[in-house]
Amino acid sequence: MASITLKDIVKKYGDGYPAVKGVSLDIKDGEFVILVGPSGCGKSTLLRMIVGLEDITSGDLYIGETRMNDRAPRDRKLAMVFQNYALYPHLTVFENIAFPLRLSKGQFSEDEITRKVESAASTLELQDHLQRKPANLSGGQRQRVAMGRAIVRDADAFLFDEPLSNLDAKLRGQMRTEIARMQRRMGTTTVYVTHDQTEAMTLGDRVAVLRKGELQQVASPRGLYEQPVNLFVAGFIGSPPMNFAPGELDGDVLHLPFADMPAPAGVARAGGGRRVLVVGIRPEHFEDASLLEEGKKGTGVTFEANVDVTEWLGSDLFAYVPFDTNPDVAKTLEELDRDLDGEGLRTQLVVALDSESRVRDGDTATIWFDPARAMVFDPETGENLTFDADAAKEIDAQNEVDRKASLERAHAREAAAAAS
Ligand SMILES: Nc1ncnc2c1ncn2[C@@H]1O[C@H](COP(=O)(O)OP(=O)(O)OP(=O)(O)O)[C@@H](O)[C@H]1O
Ligand SMILES: [Mg+2]
Repeated sequence: MASITLKDIVKKYGDGYPAVKGVSLDIKDGEFVILVGPSGCGKSTLLRMIVGLEDITSGDLYIGETRMNDRAPRDRKLAMVFQNYALYPHLTVFENIAFPLRLSKGQFSEDEITRKVESAASTLELQDHLQRKPANLSGGQRQRVAMGRAIVRDADAFLFDEPLSNLDAKLRGQMRTEIARMQRRMGTTTVYVTHDQTEAMTLGDRVAVLRKGELQQVASPRGLYEQPVNLFVAGFIGSPPMNFAPGELDGDVLHLPFADMPAPAGVARAGGGRRVLVVGIRPEHFEDASLLEEGKKGTGVTFEANVDVTEWLGSDLFAYVPFDTNPDVAKTLEELDRDLDGEGLRTQLVVALDSESRVRDGDTATIWFDPARAMVFDPETGENLTFDADAAKEIDAQNEVDRKASLERAHAREAAAAAS
């Protein structure tokens, strides 16, 4: 077990490309940290520097108390699971898992190897498959064999680089819960790279969001969702993504293309006169006004929306509402969309309504939202002007309490299982 500390880590590749530009991150012992960001932002590079497959250009890497920059990968006691895990096709599952132990010749007796492999196999529920060959296994079972190999090494930390991206959606969901359960049970420090935000939100104690080699924010999943520091994080976290619209600040009112809303207090003050800002509202924060109780309706903003297309998904109803954008912020939003690997500028609202809503294609619907849940961003810097540092701290403190409690429960269950 160990903590992992990154201090101002920089990676410049041989061709001069700055892939990682000064990342600092403290990963606590036993913590599960996710590195997330769009393709090419430096996630794999960072992970490969931690494990020792890539030189660190500058900065310090500590595992526990020891500086590891110049240590060989095998001296770092880390186990890595890659996206393209290579199993040996001619070896059984048992021998595939035992492989790293046999590599360190003579260090383990045959009995020890059997004990370690069997214990890993039981953690991963592979006991019944130990004598089979990889070709005869399902994708998920193969993935577990690859993890078994990491487990037997008694590593101080696990590093995962998109381990589930080759699996189909259903299996990915299953493996996701299995990885979460395994990590809780073993309490091993884990760094997990993904660009799948469901994985990021569900697996991590904390999530580190990277953009073009720079860390944007490190927080609990709920912290990122409720208190993103900037446009990039706000747009990256959440599915379907947050809606962004131009908001013209006029005193203490923000004129949106589809409604007027009161400007949040801090924004009205910071804005100084008329200017165009970017307003963000999550799809799930809109409601079909006709389904609201009278009391609630008066507490928010309502507007008439010309609904273009609707999608009924059983649990939600998505309605698409086009709006006119404003040239002052169009460039910012286009740039953001490119950064987020988006599918083109979104000049429509995506509104997630209750699935009971009767709003349909071509309707004019009355839509409601609570302006207190809207966020306001500076179009030049991307800064979230409605960021509440105290609230963010409170969310992360709660998250830490919950994490410790769930670790304790996992250990208690483990102890109970061992005693019976
Ligand atoms: N050997 C290399 N030489 C030069 N540049 C490289 C090298 N490997 C990666 N890069 C560049 O460094 C940047 C970060 O790459 P990296 O593989 O870390 O991204 P990533 O975040 O893991 O992306 P993905 O989600 O696509 O796996 C990319 O722009 C990439 O082109
Ligand atoms: Mg990668």
